[in-house]
Amino acid sequence: MKPVIARTREELAAARARVAGTLAFVPTMGALHEGHLSLMRQARRSADTVAVSIFVNPLQFGPGEDFDRYPRTFDADVEACAGEGVDLIFAPARDVMYPAEPQVTVLSGPMGEIVEGAARPGHFNGMLTVVLKLLNLVRPDVAIFGEKDAQQLAMIRRMVADLDVPVRIIGGRTVREPDGLALSSRNRYLSSAGRKTALALSHALRAGADAAAEGPKAILAAAGTVLDAAATADPPLVLDYLVLVDPASFTPITAPCAGPAVLAVAGRVGTTHLIDNVHLQLGKEH
Ligand code: PAF
Repeated sequence: MKPVIARTREELAAARARVAGTLAFVPTMGALHEGHLSLMRQARRSADTVAVSIFVNPLQFGPGEDFDRYPRTFDADVEACAGEGVDLIFAPARDVMYPAEPQVTVLSGPMGEIVEGAARPGHFNGMLTVVLKLLNLVRPDVAIFGEKDAQQLAMIRRMVADLDVPVRIIGGRTVREPDGLALSSRNRYLSSAGRKTALALSHALRAGADAAAEGPKAILAAAGTVLDAAATADPPLVLDYLVLVDPASFTPITAPCAGPAVLAVAGRVGTTHLIDNVHLQLGKEH
């Protein structure tokens, strides 16, 4: 069956009122790929009804970023949602989402200013603002976000906890190409040479993970060696950051310690901004 498409708040409210049982929600910016589809399958397993939003949120793009050229593939996205049995698509126009220029927005706090937040100032304020608005409008029981955007997921969990938003947040695993490249709507910007360079991100994470037992210094050194080589490729990888962080707070782990960690990397190939990460378990002895 085709999903119901709600383009206005009124259409969404009417569709929401018809939902019986529990509702799982997958917010997206469209240009859907297998990573999104796996979130939809997870949503299907988590609740009776599945809703997806498709909205390219201007607030989370900085000046000079790719808001204007961000891929918009609405018809294909609707087909993809239909293929996954999605019940409801919320696809608001900009003036439906933001009838007036918002004056009150979510402030992402110190976590929003480090790592990806330092590379993209203001990004997390805009992202959290739209996520909170979407959660308020859709009122799901469960919302599912990809683990590829690990800091985004951590910040959403933090916002939901700090602001008592009544929703359960679930992370969905990163889906990769057979050669390791993490799926991203932005991969379609890459030339074939650029795609080869971009593989350095996942290869660096693998090298870092392989060194996990040797502690933070060795992890960063192993990943750094792969990234250094990619910096001289054609086209080159321009590194934004490589960090080993605490998964919940995203504060850097520099000293040896035991417990979970995230090795996160971001860089640009040409004008394409790419991010990736891997979860690691650190041992005590280093
Ligand atoms: O991850 C995304 O696609 C976006 O950041 C989100 C969560 C849909 C908010 O615009």
